[in-house]
Amino acid sequence: MGRRRILLSDEQVLGLDAYESRGGGAGLRALADRGPERALDELELSGLRGRGGAGFPTGLKWRSIVAGGPSAGERFVVANGAEGEPGTFKDRYLLRNNPYSMLEGLAISAAVVGARRAYVAVKASFAAEIERLSDAIVETAGAGWWPEVEVSIVGGPEEYLFGEEKALLEVIEGEDPLPRQFPPYVYGLFTTSPQMGWSAGRSLDHRDQGANPTLVNNIETLANVPAIIARGCEWFRSIGTAESPGTLLCTISGDTNRHGVDEFEMGTPVGEIVDTIGGGVADGRATRYLLSGVSNPVLRGELLNTPASHEALSAVGAGLGTGGFMVFDDRTDPIELAHAVSRFLWIESCGQCPACKLGCEHVTLLLGDAINTRRVDLGVLSARLNTVNDAARCYLPTQEQQVVGSLLVDVRDDVVGQRRNLLIAPISDLVDGRFVLAERHRSKRPDWTYPD
Ligand SMILES: Cc1cc2nc3c(=O)[nH]c(=O)nc-3n(C[C@H](O)[C@H](O)[C@H](O)COP(=O)(O)O)c2cc1C
Ligand code: SF4
Repeated sequence: MGRRRILLSDEQVLGLDAYESRGGGAGLRALADRGPERALDELELSGLRGRGGAGFPTGLKWRSIVAGGPSAGERFVVANGAEGEPGTFKDRYLLRNNPYSMLEGLAISAAVVGARRAYVAVKASFAAEIERLSDAIVETAGAGWWPEVEVSIVGGPEEYLFGEEKALLEVIEGEDPLPRQFPPYVYGLFTTSPQMGWSAGRSLDHRDQGANPTLVNNIETLANVPAIIARGCEWFRSIGTAESPGTLLCTISGDTNRHGVDEFEMGTPVGEIVDTIGGGVADGRATRYLLSGVSNPVLRGELLNTPASHEALSAVGAGLGTGGFMVFDDRTDPIELAHAVSRFLWIESCGQCPACKLGCEHVTLLLGDAINTRRVDLGVLSARLNTVNDAARCYLPTQEQQVVGSLLVDVRDDVVGQRRNLLIAPISDLVDGRFVLAERHRSKRPDWTYPD
């Protein structure tokens, strides 16, 4: 276990020739030799799990898109590069370092599920990544990677929900990032039947006629695919752990001496990842909390030796998420951190489900009062948290429950940290070895507008 580079290379891969000289393109050649069914088997047996946060088995997802045959409609494939999760910068880092492995994975996915259109969805503000992607798409098209497949880059908004897969499909269709009702394998891109109401003509079966099952995978997930198809599932399973095979791109930010992204074998202790990338916290300080994005319960400093794998982090009550670890040292007050996370989620909630928008708002206000008065009514807070995900269309309010709930456990009268003016917001760039956060988020309003 430890640092291990499969996806990242020491120097940027600056052209298709450079990618091919490193062995790139072998996945597409193996697919041409052995056929899509064998590729699908290999992917399933590899145990690859999605790197977009939930760790869903990738082979199973691809198979569910194929299910139903031609009557289920047209297929589409989407690479999710929205990267809105606070504390995460790995997809952008990978695209800057080497956009080709992800594109090769996307081309393989289109061939396997029979898609004629492929989308790479990134924020419109990711100028450097869009430039690299555009050049790489032209080059790979010239090399015959996309026979009968049209590939487009979609530039999306800054909102957190843009990365949520049901909202992502809305953005590709030209709408705002409001999560639709059904998942992409049930209700894919450019379907015409209504989702709701009297005229909704569809059951929840993804084999239904005209469902247009759509595959959405994270950038890092897709980048893992070519080597699995070329080198086989046994090779992939020899890296990482039994339940979390392969490597993980990890982002370290927050109170560490350095910030950055690097690749580690799954199962490497989290503390080793924090030290290797981040060089530890400042002298005289200790790590108090580590958050993997805002999607999982907090990992306490005492548990830093936990292996970075889905199973080990779940076993200690935390979660792997996207491997974007935000480090908070022993100056951090649990109420202030909970407030910063809750505020982010309240602002980013889209309000389609009242319990989510109003509930996250109320929890944020209660936590704000607690910071000022140093008094917390844990009963009221917990009761409010319990209902925030009632009738929720997406996972955002469950994240609120998980993160805030896990921090409330530490709230006692004697736990008073410093006021640190904490900001939970997406990373906007990596400058001279430090991440710059989207400061503007401090003034973002709950209707997603900003003061002039
Ligand atoms: C609020 C929210 C934001 C999300 N943001 C992202 C994102 O920026 N990038 C991403 O790949 N997945 C994101 N996801 C997860 C996607 O919905 C989806 O599960 C993922 O793209 C599937 O890819 P995978 O199976 O390869 O992990 C988000 C989920 C939620 C609930
Ligand atoms: S659960 Fe919240 S963020 Fe998700 S769709 Fe409903 S209101 Fe929007």
